Amino acid sequence: MPPTFRIRTLLLTLCSFAAIASHAQAPKPALAATPPMGWNSWNHFAEKVTDKTIRDTADAMVSSGMRDAGYIYVNIDDTWEGKRDAKGNIQPNEKFPDMKALADYVHSKGLRLGIYSSPGAKTCAGYEGSLGHEQQDADTYASWGIDYLKYDLCSYTENLKQQAGNDHEKARQVMEGVYSTMQQALARTGRPIVLSLCQYGWEAVWRWGQQAGGNLWRTTGDIEDNYASMSAIGFGQAGLSRFAGPGHWNDPDMLEIGNGGMNATEYRSHMSLWAMLSAPLLAGNDVPAMTQETRDILLNREVIAIDQDSAGHQGDRVYTEGPLEVWSKPLADGSLAVGIFSRWRMPLTLDVPLARLGLSATAPIHARDLWRHADLPPVQGSIHAQIPPHGVVLLRLQP
Ligand code: GLA
Repeated sequence: MPPTFRIRTLLLTLCSFAAIASHAQAPKPALAATPPMGWNSWNHFAEKVTDKTIRDTADAMVSSGMRDAGYIYVNIDDTWEGKRDAKGNIQPNEKFPDMKALADYVHSKGLRLGIYSSPGAKTCAGYEGSLGHEQQDADTYASWGIDYLKYDLCSYTENLKQQAGNDHEKARQVMEGVYSTMQQALARTGRPIVLSLCQYGWEAVWRWGQQAGGNLWRTTGDIEDNYASMSAIGFGQAGLSRFAGPGHWNDPDMLEIGNGGMNATEYRSHMSLWAMLSAPLLAGNDVPAMTQETRDILLNREVIAIDQDSAGHQGDRVYTEGPLEVWSKPLADGSLAVGIFSRWRMPLTLDVPLARLGLSATAPIHARDLWRHADLPPVQGSIHAQIPPHGVVLLRLQP
């Protein structure tokens, strides 16, 4: 072999070794690197969800532009479960004739499919849970092509009482145990499946949800489609920012935007607050029947960008003053998202000093209004905000 050829062969061999080695070491794409986005059946359809609901929703998520804006997960909540077969394999009930075919359909639209279960014997709506069948269920989900599991404590509450009584540390350990069991079962399938913990925030789950294997954990009880519920939950997240980050998120529950119980101003506050909280954005409306007004709220890309910011810093409260709530969120490009919310039922006009946001009060700062989609005159000294009842002024400040 001529020397040049030998060298080339040697180089090629080294290159292919390097390629194999780098392939072997390539990190897996991180699951839930930004807060999961998608849709869930519960808030609008509850027990009425069917195979057709999911297909129609998937179609509408594509045609409405939701998918392209980042809403990727289509999640079936409770009431899909049927009986177990003779071998103990969970079967969907008559509303879902073929779960694998449904997953194939959802995947063919460039979307992902989520499902729901409980560590207890029964789900919250009284259907079959996963108790004693954790690995079997994880394997079934993987074989269907499931990408996301919401795992809801429900009837396991009874088991918890028996095992832990009034011992809170023991209760925490037991819950951490059941969630870890499912996380390990999912991991053994080899399929990347987002794990959503749902136990209503008990025993300060934000402190241990990540070590239990959760990609997200509900921090509260169920949201309702009214301003009182949404605002109590949303503003009640103050102080939780340090527990969230890429791969593990606080979950203040799903969106109610478009379900009719709040006006457009209140839904803009809902969307803004969830974005500031780096919350999972799981729409809960009837997507095929979505109005233009709802679409404009859910698909505001400048607001979505705050939620999905790659730095993954959850925002937090800066200060509160009566009905005024001032929140900020540092973003990857060095800018600062600022949400100036009013919980009052009347219009509120006031100044927010830049110094209170940790910004220079002397240099003019570039500001963009994320609901008006407009650059504002440079801000100096303080932000002059006119906030409608239950409303928000949401800004992106570039110091
Ligand atoms: C619980 C959960 C809800 C929903 C229902 C379904 O209440 O918190 O989000 O999943 O169960 O039964």
